[in-house]
Formats: sequence, structure tokens, C-alpha cells
Amino acid sequence: MSLPLLVSETRQTFKQIFGCCPVIMAHAPGRLNICGEHTDYNGGLALPMAINHYAVVGVKPTESNRIRAYAVAFDERIDWVPGHEPGDLPPWANYINGAVTQFCQDFGLTGGIDIVVHSDLSIGTGLGSSAAFGVSIAMALQILSPKKNKLNDFPAYCQGMENKYMRVETGVLDQTIAIFGRKGYALRIDFSTGNRTLEPLRMHDYQFVVMESGESRQLAKSGYNDRVTWSQSALMKSRKHFGDHIKNLSAISVEQLSDLESLLTASELGVVRHVITENQRVDACAHALVKSDMPALGNILTEAHKSMRDNMGASTDRLDFLVDTAGLQTGCLGARVVGGGFGGSCFALMPMTDVENFISAMQLAFKNKYDTDLPAYPVESNDAASVWRVYD
Ligand code: GLA
Repeated sequence: MSLPLLVSETRQTFKQIFGCCPVIMAHAPGRLNICGEHTDYNGGLALPMAINHYAVVGVKPTESNRIRAYAVAFDERIDWVPGHEPGDLPPWANYINGAVTQFCQDFGLTGGIDIVVHSDLSIGTGLGSSAAFGVSIAMALQILSPKKNKLNDFPAYCQGMENKYMRVETGVLDQTIAIFGRKGYALRIDFSTGNRTLEPLRMHDYQFVVMESGESRQLAKSGYNDRVTWSQSALMKSRKHFGDHIKNLSAISVEQLSDLESLLTASELGVVRHVITENQRVDACAHALVKSDMPALGNILTEAHKSMRDNMGASTDRLDFLVDTAGLQTGCLGARVVGGGFGGSCFALMPMTDVENFISAMQLAFKNKYDTDLPAYPVESNDAASVWRVYD
């Protein structure tokens, strides 16, 4: 759905539900992470781009102390007093509850709000829908709060809300790209220094095509938190062995890996191997994009998938099927799972001229294998989140 349409539907819905217009509207994009998975909480590198799919919110402050919220996707309306313990509410309302509670505490927000949330990012597709949702709510609440957060601190602030209220130990990748993405660019993020560089997407006649596996990836219930735990225990053991200068797993060199073989469990070793090689792949991808070397980019994507499968154990049968089948199609230069894994989506690098045939062939193969439809579509790079006042 286009952004103007999502915005207008959000506004219309707000009028129907609450009988007036929202005062503030905000949107935040989802993301396609070209390369660099599970590196954000390991001080590594990633290369995401913001995409043309969004979460949108319409908000109006009220004199009451209540939150009245409506989610278009669930056709669900809830009304409560903020400050609920995490877990008391349905997940989508939990975000709103968490954000309002935090903004009251940290930025002097007072009173209640009426809010409508809308999105064309399906939950659990691995395209950063949670962060888009959280960032769009936070952007709107920021305008209503007397004290302000610095833009540079905003991604970590939104990540903190998600960690606390959604009970997942996610890193800051998705929030960072939602806030700093730019159309025509990927963002190289170095999570050990916080440095961000915009890298032009010199893809010419090539596109990324997303394929949704239909296995909803719910981070809280998937193996995501296990990977975080394994990373932490691997880091502790590595520091004991190499010294405290090892600040995160990305500080371990390829040469040091063999030393760790007898010290780490197989799961820990897999994570370390993945993180170290994934950082190298991120820079190789950025380099391939600078040179417009699409075959090189495609190869790295497929290598990255293998590492998510073999080192991280974060792939599934469906994701492997999509990557393997994509690799057999005319024009496809590479494919991989996107996001944390354990379901969600894959994407393939395709020449634009072959996209239509590719999608038909993939949908047919998927239907034959799993007897279910495959949502598949090309995505474009996009600008970051924004917030605006509505004048009726
Ligand atoms: C999810 C998390 C991110 C990141 C990715 C994997 O999207 O929200 O912080 O860890 O998985 O790269």
C-alpha cells in the first residue's frame, strides 16, 4: 500500500472511531537488511535499507488519564490506564502502553491519548515491523512531550522500550534504519562505534524481491533470545582467554577462532563464526554495491544465508526451500533469509526484467511444495520515519 493511502486510511479510521481528526501523525518504514544479521548486539556491522512499507499512527492528546487505542490490522479497540505491567495487554497495545509509560516518566508527557495504528508490514515477516511500530508511536509522543530526546539517542531509546515491554533482547538495527534511512541508500552501521555511513545503492536494473515464508517469526518465542545468551557466554569465555580488550564478539579475529574451538560449546562457536564472517560479508556487500558488481553481491547473499543456516541454526525448511529454489530461477543472483531468522521472509537479488516470471515461478513451486500461497513483491529503498501536525 502506498504511504499516502495508509495515511489517509489512518486518518479516516481515526475520525470513525473517535469522531475527530488526529492532531499528530507519524510514520516509520520497515527495513530490508542487505547483510549483517545478529551483528547488532555483538558490536558488528550491518547494511540495511529502509523500505516502502510502513507503520503509521494517528494520535490526539486527551484530558483523561486513559489510552484509547484502535489497531486496524486486528480490528480491535482497547481502553486502559497506562502503567500496566508488560504482558497484561495484547502485544500491539503493549507497545503503546510501554511508550506512553516511558514518555510520562522520561519526557514529562501528561494526560491520555487516543491513537490509531495502521501498517502494511505484516507482523512476523522479518521486515522490522515491530521497530517501525515502536518508532512511529515514539515519534508522535515526542511531539506531545515537553522534554525532548536527541535524535541520535532515539534508536536506543526505542530499542529499550521494545526490550522492556515486549520482552525480547533485540539489538538496535531496526530502529536505527527506521530513523536514519534514506531513499537510494543503504546505511552501513558499525555497532561498536555507533558510526553510520550512507552507501549509494548502485543497483541499476536490479531489485530485491521479498518472499514471505508464512512462518510468523515471533522473536520472543523463537530462538532469538538463545542466540543473545550464547553470544554473551561466548564473550565471557573469550575475554577470559584473550583478555578484557575483547569488548564484543566482533573484536575476535578469524585467526583467534581456532583457539576457541576447545573452549566454547558448539552453539557458542557457531555464533562467533557467524558474527566474524558476517562482518566481512557486510563490507564485501558495500564494496560490491560501490562497484555495481551485482553477481558478487548475489554470491555474498547466498553465503550469508548458509551461515544463518549452518552457524546460527536460524533457518527453517521453508526458508531453505525459498533460497534454494530462487537460486535455480533465470536471472537470480542470490538469496537469503532477512532479519533474525526462524521464519519470516527471504529476499532475492533479481534483474528487473525477470522479476515477474521469477515471482510466478516461486509462487508455483511454493504452492506445490507447501500447498499455500507465497506473498512475493519487489521492495524499494526509502526515507526514514517522519512526524507531522495535522491541520483539519
Ligand atoms: C531482529 C532484531 C534486530 C537484529 C535482527 C537480526 O530484527 O530486532 O535487532 O538483531 O533481528 O539481525
